[in-house]
This record gives sequence, structure tokens and C-alpha cells, in this order.
Amino acid sequence: MEQNIFLIGFMGCGKTTVARELNRLFGLTVIEMDQLIEEREGMSIPDIFAQKGEAYFRSCETTLLRELQRRSNLVVSCGGGVALREENVALMKSQGRIVLLTATPETILERVRDDQNRPVLNGKKTITDIEALLALRWPAYEKAADILVATDKKQAAELAAEIMR
Ligand code: S3P
Repeated sequence: MEQNIFLIGFMGCGKTTVARELNRLFGLTVIEMDQLIEEREGMSIPDIFAQKGEAYFRSCETTLLRELQRRSNLVVSCGGGVALREENVALMKSQGRIVLLTATPETILERVRDDQNRPVLNGKKTITDIEALLALRWPAYEKAADILVATDKKQAAELAAEIMR
């Protein structure tokens, strides 16, 4: 059976960028979870959070993961909260390998600073806040991961090659 690759990790760790590179270099089909959910719901992530609530968004994530079960040769760029639900982790494990992308809080802040589309970080774009949320999530990320890949100061192509190895 061909395996799918799931990219998990905190916002700003490069999941989207690395997924695109895995497509470009190795021909994997990209599933960008956030984008697919936005298309299905006909609204942006901030609007989904504001109008339907975070719990609703989280259930969209689980539904989408269930649907991917019949597919292969995918690289799935997960939203930063996906690996926090045990059910999601079980679904990912049954379909392939889970790669945790990491970055320092400094790198993360640099990458998310000008972005308005991450409701979880609204009003929390400081090193201290990012460190706190990262610390809260880290046990779940680490538990879910088959491998860890640090993304600081690395090119996407280098990271894609490292993951395929
Ligand atoms: C979230 C991360 C976002 C998006 C949503 C919630 C999170 O995805 O799914 O804003 O809880 O970490 P990215 O990690 O792609 O920014």
C-alpha cells in the first residue's frame, strides 16, 4: 500500500511550503486542509471561527481526514490544530507517516507576524504567547509524530528531500 505523508506542527512551521515542494520534486498530490475546508464552507478560516465556532472547524478537520482514507500518494498539509485530537492522530496513523515540522518561537513569529488569517494567534503575536501555546501543544505533537524535522534556516527543497529519505 502506498503511504500518505501528513505534515503536522505549529502555525508557521512551513507545512504549506514543504507540501508544495514535495509536490514539485516528488509528484505527491497536495491536500491543503485549511484551503479545502475554506472552499467547502465558502468562507475564510477567520469567518468560520467567528460565525460557526472553533468546535465546528475542528469537526470539519476530522471529517476531511476520514475522507482521505481511500486515497494514496498524498502529502497532507494539516492545520496546526489537527494533531491535538486523538481521533485525528489515529486516522493519520492508519493512512501513512506523520512528519512533525518544528521551528523556534522566533522563526514562527517572523513567519506569522503579518498574517491576519490565523484566529488562534489574534492578539498573541509575541514570543511569550507563542512559547506558551507551543508548550501546551508540544506533548500532543511529539506523541503523534513518526519523525521530527527542524525547519529553521533551511530551504524547502532541502526539507522535502530530508522527509523523503
Ligand atoms: C490553527 C492553524 C491554522 C488553521 C486554523 C487553526 C491552529 O493552520 O487550521 O487557523 O489551531 O493551530 P496553519 O497551521 O496552517 O496556520
